[in-house]
Amino acid sequence: MATVSVNRAVLTWRLAVAWTWLWHFSSDQMWYEIRQLGRVADSYTQGETPAHVLRVIAEKAEMGLGTRVLDIGCGRGSALAYWASVFGAEPIGIEEVPALGTATRELFKCLSISGTVIVGDFAEVEWPDVDLIYIAGTCFSPSAVGELQRRLLQSSAKTKIAVITLELPTTLFDLVDAVSVRFPWGKSMLRIYEPRLNPV
Ligand SMILES: C[S@@+](CC[C@H](N)C(=O)[O-])C[C@H]1O[C@@H](n2cnc3c(N)ncnc32)[C@H](O)[C@@H]1O
Repeated sequence: MATVSVNRAVLTWRLAVAWTWLWHFSSDQMWYEIRQLGRVADSYTQGETPAHVLRVIAEKAEMGLGTRVLDIGCGRGSALAYWASVFGAEPIGIEEVPALGTATRELFKCLSISGTVIVGDFAEVEWPDVDLIYIAGTCFSPSAVGELQRRLLQSSAKTKIAVITLELPTTLFDLVDAVSVRFPWGKSMLRIYEPRLNPV
């Protein structure tokens, strides 16, 4: 008698596991997870900032709970998702490629992050007021860099600016910190600036 009830319990348990798997395999979540596996693999080709550099940026910029961070050219949102998940930052991204903007929104949704994605050319959209602006500078053309500087000058005095590779003129921005960081493609400089109160 005892054997029968043990067998029934095992059978019930197996059915429950099978049901869970069936539910999982038919869900959007599963397909999302499969896409995420590819996502890790092509982080390099997307030119994303690796996690160890994101951590240095967060520490140098004193990121914490509720820090509003704006990533100019957020790509698929990996940097923003990391800062939101690990440091509790409030992420905002500007991205000109609509498919990448959608990927960022999907990532936020999957991780239950409440963030904002603005799809458009950074030169043409309105920038929200934030505590930290991040610029992975390698992807911008020289003409875009001029516009970038003009926009950065409009940010509030308390806004920190973290820039990879690009140098901002110290006549207009105070260089607060600079450190060498390693990317998959080689070493680069991370610079932290603040807008100068009295531009020279
Ligand atoms: C190298 S990815 C960086 C992604 C992310 N910021 C990171 O560090 O992981 C640069 C992104 O900037 C976007 N981008 C380039 N020019 C832009 C522009 N003018 N306005 C908005 N996004 C732009 C590209 O589409 C690309 O997704």
